[in-house]
Amino acid sequence: MSPATLSYAVPNLYGQSFLSMTDATPDQVKAMLALAIKLKADKRSGTAHRLLAGKHIALYFELPSNRTRVSFEVGSADLGLNTVHLRKEEINLGVRETIADTARTLSRYVDAIMIRAGSHHDVSELAEHATVPVINGLTGLHHPCQVLADLQTVLERAGALEGKTLAYIGDGNNMCHSLMLGSALVGLNMRIATPPDYEPQADVVQEAEALAQKSGASLTLVHDKYEAVTGADAVYTDVWASMTNKHEAEERRKAFAGFIVDQDLMAKANPGAFVLHCLPAVRGEEIAHETLEAHADAIFSQAENRMHAQKALMLSLMLKQ
Ligand code: CP
Ligand code: NVA
Repeated sequence: MSPATLSYAVPNLYGQSFLSMTDATPDQVKAMLALAIKLKADKRSGTAHRLLAGKHIALYFELPSNRTRVSFEVGSADLGLNTVHLRKEEINLGVRETIADTARTLSRYVDAIMIRAGSHHDVSELAEHATVPVINGLTGLHHPCQVLADLQTVLERAGALEGKTLAYIGDGNNMCHSLMLGSALVGLNMRIATPPDYEPQADVVQEAEALAQKSGASLTLVHDKYEAVTGADAVYTDVWASMTNKHEAEERRKAFAGFIVDQDLMAKANPGAFVLHCLPAVRGEEIAHETLEAHADAIFSQAENRMHAQKALMLSLMLKQ
């Protein structure tokens, strides 16, 4: 059980923060995915790696969570890493004291900080003043931990990333942003369909296009969901109204009408194409109930992979090599 050392390669991002997929190089992302797949197999066979024993991570949630909270808690326990859970009412980031003071204080107690907050700017400020790695557990702009798990799932199911095609149907939101960057880094083609006015941010598209040029991936933005799924090996969707824009849910329901991933749409994708969803899902809006159920194995494996991918990430950021 519990070997003191790991015979696998751990990408060396020691001491760095991970706020966006672009905080790792293509090789580092690929190495993290390879490590995540090995850690998953080891967990299945009962081999533990308590390589972060004696260290502590703070988990701060300004917004609700199931997957992020539990996958970080359990993944940390697997690595021997102690978690300190902080609620919004306790920290009240940027209100009770300056963000810089929160960052400097937490850095004296813990070895890393995972944060979920609406404002990406706040999270960047926290990382700027922290002397320990800060991990983005979702902001309104990015959700890179989810994308590590998503890429792991595509790799496991499609057998490769480079040259494969992922379609994304829905809002040009945090998921869409991080998926564009992650896919462009590793050479996965992306075809995105959003309603007009709900495209991903232009600066993130530009960043992804520059990365895609280097990796050879293609990035296509359209407004027709059928066009987007043509030639797709996997089809991804996410809620129409994210946590940070729940107040727009009613108007978004109108703007996104028809942007549902259902069996009719899946029939236009490549044979054997699978569906991914970061969850939580709103059945009957972005995804049909029967489609979620038909692809439940892929979708819940994707949720499981959060834990394995984040273990690989925490080892990369926190294990001194
Ligand atoms: N996918 C995801 O981040 O789920 P939670 O909001 O439940 O953490
Ligand atoms: N776009 C969604 C992702 C949830 C994991 C949100 O921000 O609410």
